[in-house]
Amino acid sequence: MKGVILAGGKGTRLAPLTAVVNKHLLPVGKYPMIHYSVLKLREAGITDILLVTGREAAGDFIRYLGSGSEMGVRLTYRVQEEAAGIANALELARPFIQEGEKFVVMLGDNLFEESLTPFVRSFEQREGAMVLLKKVDEPYRYGVPVFREGRIIRIEEKPDHPRSEYCVTGIYWYDSGVFDRIRRIVPSERGELEISDVNNLYAEEMLLAYEVMADWWIDAGTFSSLQEASKYMLKRQE
Ligand code: G1P
Repeated sequence: MKGVILAGGKGTRLAPLTAVVNKHLLPVGKYPMIHYSVLKLREAGITDILLVTGREAAGDFIRYLGSGSEMGVRLTYRVQEEAAGIANALELARPFIQEGEKFVVMLGDNLFEESLTPFVRSFEQREGAMVLLKKVDEPYRYGVPVFREGRIIRIEEKPDHPRSEYCVTGIYWYDSGVFDRIRRIVPSERGELEISDVNNLYAEEMLLAYEVMADWWIDAGTFSSLQEASKYMLKRQE
């Protein structure tokens, strides 16, 4: 199975740190954030990886990761010219994925402990798409699943009144049908192609599966979560 890491975006919640450094290159413990995404994919046996980032930072990612050989992976790069949403970035993976192939997508600011291996196995047996959920204290900050009879019928993006205690993490599995679905969605109120809209198309077709993460997980996109992530990783590294 191939992997796609999305590491673009403006990182506005981390300004002014992100004025000169891409969010995914900010330090977390001893490494730039992006290091952990590559490690987690490799740990699950995923070594053929596409990294999508913006124009300003692309050179910095290449300087740090190169071909990927030092980390035991093979990297391909694509540049997202405009920060137009996660689904827009994902569309750049189209030439990297063969018809009928399944793959995993990771947002580069999602840091976590658990191995992806069992989830990769689980998706190998399925068709459609799969999201990884995590029970969180403040679900309104994320995409939130709405359940009926044990299945996700819809995902609400940053809802004022969350309908469950879970968030949809930035770790997704898709079949190659995702690219046609991306074409069917339209920009949200914030002008972005939302990944939750893509996942909702799968949910409508009853093709959206889920698994739940039990261990530590964080979206390191804010000052406090970045600090927490850094503390966690440093402790582990020491
Ligand atoms: C994105 C997704 C959201 C998801 C989150 C996880 O939000 O839109 O559904 O819960 O990642 O990290 P963002 O962090 O881009 O606002």
